[in-house]
Amino acid sequence: MRETKSVIVQPARNVLGSLRVPGDKSISHRYAMLAALAQGRSRFENFSPGADCASTLGCVRALGCAVERDAQGAVNIEGLGSQLQAPGAPLDCGNSGSTMRMLAGIVAAQPFTSEMIGDESLSRRPMKRIIEPLTKMGATIDSADGGCAPLRIKGTKLHGIEYRVPVASAQVKTSLLFAGLLAGGQTTVEEPSRTRDHGELALRAFGATVDRQRNALTILGGQTLHPLEAYIPGDVSSAAFFLCAAAIFPESNLVIDGVLLNPTRSALLDVLAAMGSRISMVRVEVQQGELVGTVTLMPGPNKDVTIEGALTALLIDELPVLAAIAPFTGGLEVRDASELRVKESDRLSAVTQNLRAMGAEVEQTADGWRIPGAQTLHGAEIESFGDHRIAMAFAMAALRAEGETRIHDAECVGISYPSFFEDLDRLVER
Ligand code: S3P
Repeated sequence: MRETKSVIVQPARNVLGSLRVPGDKSISHRYAMLAALAQGRSRFENFSPGADCASTLGCVRALGCAVERDAQGAVNIEGLGSQLQAPGAPLDCGNSGSTMRMLAGIVAAQPFTSEMIGDESLSRRPMKRIIEPLTKMGATIDSADGGCAPLRIKGTKLHGIEYRVPVASAQVKTSLLFAGLLAGGQTTVEEPSRTRDHGELALRAFGATVDRQRNALTILGGQTLHPLEAYIPGDVSSAAFFLCAAAIFPESNLVIDGVLLNPTRSALLDVLAAMGSRISMVRVEVQQGELVGTVTLMPGPNKDVTIEGALTALLIDELPVLAAIAPFTGGLEVRDASELRVKESDRLSAVTQNLRAMGAEVEQTADGWRIPGAQTLHGAEIESFGDHRIAMAFAMAALRAEGETRIHDAECVGISYPSFFEDLDRLVER
């Protein structure tokens, strides 16, 4: 049995200071995969230190690319061009949906068969969303019951398609753009609403042309990629935890340096501003097409907000922490978030269960929650369900609760943010 560790979080008086968060997970995955397809050596500083991106690096290595960390800690990847090598063992994606879904688009275009496996959580997550379009492009994919991993992907020379993705998913969009890069002809992927655009930005950073017409992206197959040297911006979804914590302490002041400000990822800043926080951005610049800068947050009155529709899709990774701090704000309503049920855990129920354990009033609806504001919570036993974002979200709620909170299975924060609890200790005043 896996050994699990719990962490105790004590209430805090304030959140103060400045911080740099680890490199963005979404960008790290994409850069590693495209580096494998470029001809020559790519080098990435501030590559995400989390276990998810380590899974991607492991798969890239298994597909024949040399991967190493240099003396400065940067990740170096020796790309093989569009033809990778057949792996000698199943590609282990660990807990990472991004690895499995996006890499599937690449291995589906290779002249060999790959098996993709994942841990218990990943093996429950829906893969039909990539199986269906990749099959339309010519791949043969076997899966376990219900379209779940393990996947057996018989690669082939793919052909381009026009496809409308039924769910708003950047992983699916990116998977199909990667497959389209390696396919014959042209591939157009239309998404129901705008999702994070790192896939298209990364393709351009490696030298490919990708066109956008409203929510439809088109890529021509057969383009060659050049290698890339880049510094990966701080992960705004990791910064989100501390930004939310700072928003619920009246005397807080938090500065986050070098953080990703891509508008398809930074909707949380707009929501916190709508709640009443004062947010400023300085030293904003564009790196490899990605907006990066320094964010300062000072809390405000905390008004109630509703999140729904296209905004829900843009905030999907930040909803657990917004919900966890909602009782200390003016209240929160979230709609259209049924995708939360198929993340690393069922995040809709995980949040409800943990908020109730802390004594909060919360109404769970079919696709969201209604959480009244101005509540008093007590410390409690929190279940992370092995889900990094649940563990970190409730560490933030614990800071404003009365009494101590124990977060079970807390080492799962290592999926995206291994130094999370050390950073937490540095920023809170007790
Ligand atoms: C991601 C997209 C989102 C997000 C995940 C990372 C990405 O998943 O939840 O953490 O990097 O493209 P979906 O594509 O399933 O919405």
